Amino acid sequence: MDAKSFRQLYLDFFAGKGHAIIGGSSLIPEHDPSVLFTTAGMHPLVPFLLGEAHPAGKRLANVQKCLRTDDITEVGDEVHLTFFEMLGNWSLGDYWKPGAIQMSYEFLTQRLGFESDRIRVTCFQGDGDAPRDLEAAEIWRTLGIPDAHITFLPKADNWWGPAGATGPCGPDTEMFYDTDPDGPPDENPATHPARFWEVWNDVFMQYDKRADGSYGQLAQKNVDTGMGLERTLAALQGVPSLYETELFSPIIDRIMSLAGKPEPFAVRVIADHLRAAVFVLAEGIVPGNVDQPYIARRLIRRAVRYGREIGIAGHFLGELAQVVLLTLSDVYTELETNRDHILTALDTEETRFQQTLRRGEREFRRAVDGCRSEGQDVMPGHLVFRLYDTYGFPPELTEELAGKQGLTADMEGFRLAFEEHQEKSRQGAAGRFKGGLAERSPETTRLHTATHLLHEALRRVLGPHVEQRGSNITAERLRFDFSHPEKLTPEQLDAVERLVNEQISRDLQVTWEEMSVDEARERGAAGLFEDRYGNQVKVYSTGDWSVEICGGPHVEQTGELGRFRIVRERSIGAGLRRIRAVLETDS
Ligand code: SER
Repeated sequence: MDAKSFRQLYLDFFAGKGHAIIGGSSLIPEHDPSVLFTTAGMHPLVPFLLGEAHPAGKRLANVQKCLRTDDITEVGDEVHLTFFEMLGNWSLGDYWKPGAIQMSYEFLTQRLGFESDRIRVTCFQGDGDAPRDLEAAEIWRTLGIPDAHITFLPKADNWWGPAGATGPCGPDTEMFYDTDPDGPPDENPATHPARFWEVWNDVFMQYDKRADGSYGQLAQKNVDTGMGLERTLAALQGVPSLYETELFSPIIDRIMSLAGKPEPFAVRVIADHLRAAVFVLAEGIVPGNVDQPYIARRLIRRAVRYGREIGIAGHFLGELAQVVLLTLSDVYTELETNRDHILTALDTEETRFQQTLRRGEREFRRAVDGCRSEGQDVMPGHLVFRLYDTYGFPPELTEELAGKQGLTADMEGFRLAFEEHQEKSRQGAAGRFKGGLAERSPETTRLHTATHLLHEALRRVLGPHVEQRGSNITAERLRFDFSHPEKLTPEQLDAVERLVNEQISRDLQVTWEEMSVDEARERGAAGLFEDRYGNQVKVYSTGDWSVEICGGPHVEQTGELGRFRIVRERSIGAGLRRIRAVLETDS
């Protein structure tokens, strides 16, 4: 089945179940300053989920173009994209869990022909805000999904929304396609994303998250579902990644033919970013320094840089954009209408970036040499800012390039330098430098401490060669980059997880002292020997477990952390690994 028939099949199925087919909305949300892009089909429907009557009725379905930049560094694996199409159906106070789940199951098994055995589902495990979703699990069971294929997970996995800071949200049940049915039967879909592709999500929106963080009941109980078109299509076609469907293969082929040394990861990143950039530009956006224009710039510049890495000479974005247009203009007519603007904007940005890139790369190398000769592991914020301000290097790009050189970029220092110099045009900055910079919430604090426990656990399990190469924390998860030559075995991952959870159960006290860099070295403190605070550094000790240089903040006792779980481990370059992990709190 091709993408075109798949979209139609979905819409016809839900039309047959009494749903009105509505048009998709713009990629730029109207009336919602809290997000830059439409990230899900439900987004434009928020007023109706809150109780306003929708003119087309209580059952709706559509195809919605979406853009998510949170996982931009995950792009290049089998299943992550920034721009994607979402198939969705909604009940506005009409059918509830039984109706939604039955229709999902019928569509997956009878229309798409997925074998029931290859479907895994997850349900919400319950906490202080909402009960365990036994009802959803029971419906799955009745339909024939065995208990062993139903997993209960916490909010981090099985809760959706709100799309911005406040609004409709609720527990969800997620459906995964098992790409390796002969694999170990007890693997959990949430921890094996390469095997289990999350294809669909039914959200039971009955809560309204308020500005103070509490949850109220919505006026009506809604269902919001979202199916990832590209992933599901790949599952349907039985190809190993979504880049092998006809939505991507023409773009991939063209990149391969231009590249001197095609490296699959880079080729995929270029394909994804170019597609996303084309759709953002089709909204009339011109690349710039804040908000959506900044995202357009970042996508384009990242694509150009990966292009250089795989030996693409000269301008190439316009040529690739033509392929995207050919592939998707029949569904998204705005691409054709805005063709001139898209091509001109790409060309202008590419020219500008190529020029600065050459000078910037020289400057970047000088900065790296400077750090090395001073024995620094951290590229100071003012250098990151200079690369940004003078050479147009997006700070995230510098962070990524520095990581490949075994250095960490001081993003907090960058932010300070940025604010100092750009006092006037700070609008939008907060949103752009989100996650791990200004954030000091209880969630990120807990994850900071968990990062220390993880760092030490890795050293104990893998050896003292393990060194931190980067760390990024959001309210939902931690991400830790470290030096290690090979993939961790399941046993090693288990051992690391177990060690961290042991230190949590021991409820160790976390304390800190200020001392000189030399003293910290003598004490065997791990961490980055930068002198951001002059020669004095803050050294955090976690009971008898770890000693590490860090700016904080941390919890007082490790018992506050909850349960530690590694979600993913993968390579991010030669000798470099990345772990994503979450903390789960039961209540
Ligand atoms: N809003 C939910 C999601 O994005 C379902 O559409 O997954």
